[in-house]
Amino acid sequence: MTVKPILLQELPSDLDKTRLPQHVAVIMDGNGRWAKRRGLPRILGHQRGVDTLKDLLRCCRDWGVPALTAYAFSTENWGRPLEEVEFLMTLFERVLRRELKEMMEENVRIRFLGNLEALPSSLQDEIARSMNETKENTGIQFSVATNYGGRQEIVQACRAIATQVQEGKLNPEDIDEELFGHHLYTHEIPYPDLLIRTSGEMRISNFLLWQLAYAEIYVTQTLWPDFDRKEFHQALLNFQQRERRFGKV
Ligand code: FPP
Repeated sequence: MTVKPILLQELPSDLDKTRLPQHVAVIMDGNGRWAKRRGLPRILGHQRGVDTLKDLLRCCRDWGVPALTAYAFSTENWGRPLEEVEFLMTLFERVLRRELKEMMEENVRIRFLGNLEALPSSLQDEIARSMNETKENTGIQFSVATNYGGRQEIVQACRAIATQVQEGKLNPEDIDEELFGHHLYTHEIPYPDLLIRTSGEMRISNFLLWQLAYAEIYVTQTLWPDFDRKEFHQALLNFQQRERRFGKV
């Protein structure tokens, strides 16, 4: 007897492949609660969360969603207990080192968004290596927001633009939304059209404030480590049922 795999590798037939989001952003919330419910230390929730992210990345590739951005560490997350912060930094580094070969084989282009200079130097090295080695890859565009804050990103864009004005390289009249977008960390990728947040919180939490202006928001009660392909399927179905009007009637 052959057992049919439950993994949905192909796009489910009730989804319209011509109306898929072109960029999905995820706030991976609920790792701590997932671990606590099982009597485990919070860090094991984060560890499990990496597997969830990896499967979502594969799923985006299998189903034809070309870009995925995950919120891994916010500028506010430094306020967590030192052991948790240290664990996360080491986890990012370890995962990058471990997954680089596979990302190359799977044609993944990885980028990191955020103030990377404040990260531990060994992590910065690993980030630089992974971004550099995957820079010619043309498959899924995968971004990881690390030490990222939407307000901080907007402020740094303002500073860069103001400097150009001060140096006489730019006229204030030439500043428009397009030019502003070129100074954001996301300047090479389209703005997300779907934001998914797990674990039920109805907040954006300083994530991609500029870029999410017209994104559809999907919130599920499911905790991040339990977010699987079935859940992603539901999010995409929900997205396709929305009527996107961009402020028009
Ligand atoms: C939020 O859950 C989750 C985080 C702050 C960390 C997410 C990071 C990963 C899943 C690792 C990703 C790894 C790479 C290399 C990209 P929480 O701790 O706020 O959960 P809680 O609200 O239940 O406490």
